Amino acid sequence: MPPHQYSSKKEALQALERETAEDVSLPLQEANLVFGEGNPDTEVIFIGEAPGYYENRERRPFVGRSGQLLTELLKTIGWKRENVYITNIVKRRPPENRDPTPEEITLYTPYLLRQIEIIRPKVILPLGRFSMNFFLPTAKISRDQGKMFWWKESLVVPLYHPAAALRSMSVKAELEKSFSTLPTLREKYAELLKERGAITMPSEKEEVEKSQPGLF
Ligand code: URA
Repeated sequence: MPPHQYSSKKEALQALERETAEDVSLPLQEANLVFGEGNPDTEVIFIGEAPGYYENRERRPFVGRSGQLLTELLKTIGWKRENVYITNIVKRRPPENRDPTPEEITLYTPYLLRQIEIIRPKVILPLGRFSMNFFLPTAKISRDQGKMFWWKESLVVPLYHPAAALRSMSVKAELEKSFSTLPTLREKYAELLKERGAITMPSEKEEVEKSQPGLF
């Protein structure tokens, strides 16, 4: 369900995007806002680090070389890019593509959290360690990528950042392997949620058991 004052998740996300654009207290104001894109009714959200040169230019996430690899990996598992949602933890490009600072991450995350609250994805796929460590502060990417963790009501599966896979054939092989397991997550989510029992509200349980083929 979208937040009650909006009739759809799409509308709620549009309002949040306007609010983010108007918040001049956010850092990196000289760059364009790259809010995120995809299907607001999806079950899966990919979360990268911060936009790069091409993302800033086109105001869309993951459209440069990393984005091309992400799109190819999605194709290999039969998922359409437009059926998932893709965003970043920091929503404006840091100069010279430097890593986002802890302060930039802290200041942008309330907006990321609200995006997640609106979408309510079953599966969160952080790309790279910055995004992973927001959900799982003690996780290590080489040890934990491809593993499943609960975060609130979502399964979190950290993945290597596609940029790292472009630099290393062995990282690319690991990323491909982890991607190949993603189509099973929907079933796993339902099973694990049942095991978790106590947190399963009747309406949520129904939702989990309802088949929504197009979205995975
Ligand atoms: N790297 C990211 O983390 N995000 C993008 O949108 C592009 C490259």
